[in-house]
Amino acid sequence: MTKKIGVVVSGRGSNLQAILDQIDAGTLPVEVAVVVSDHGDALALERAAKHHIPTVVVERGACADKVEFETKIAGALESHGAELVVLAGFMRILTGGFISRFPHRIMNIHPALLPSFTGLHAQGQAVAYGVKVSGCTVHFVDEGTDTGPIILQKVVPVLDDDTEDSLAARILEEEHKALPEAIRWWAEGRLTVTGRKVFVRP
Ligand code: GAR
Repeated sequence: MTKKIGVVVSGRGSNLQAILDQIDAGTLPVEVAVVVSDHGDALALERAAKHHIPTVVVERGACADKVEFETKIAGALESHGAELVVLAGFMRILTGGFISRFPHRIMNIHPALLPSFTGLHAQGQAVAYGVKVSGCTVHFVDEGTDTGPIILQKVVPVLDDDTEDSLAARILEEEHKALPEAIRWWAEGRLTVTGRKVFVRP
């Protein structure tokens, strides 16, 4: 049976689109059961609606506290049967309470080569630091910020005249390959997590 994933977003949703495009092309054997956004005006919600995928909006400001916010997101994912939670441009840090409901079943895409440049504006951090390569990382989420076991990384050059935006655009092209690839590995049952290491079976 096709495995179900839930995608959690905050904005543009180009990574969600990359997942949907690969599903449509028949190269990613999963079903997006629900898209959850913490912003009601996220472009990602329109992308989901075009594919007739159920959407749920949970705004932080409409919740009494972070526990209620996360409980509602987790409830939406579980009620739609999501077996894997994919954070695709979700701009909030999740607490242990949420993470423990989906052990090793939450993936995040981060626009830097972790463990460098965690948190926000990772591409700007890379330009400011003067590194010569950067890229993206898909990892399982643990209780730290961008610290969980790494599944896959892709590298791009950093050019002398790069700005945060130009580097972000170059990295984004790789994100659109990396995230569907990691999800495919998961769907094919090829990922094993041992401590910090993720092993990918051939
Ligand atoms: C992507 O670059 C993603 O890596 C980044 O936000 C962008 C979302 O783009 N995520 C983070 O920085 C998480 N800390 P998208 O909405 O078009 O997929």
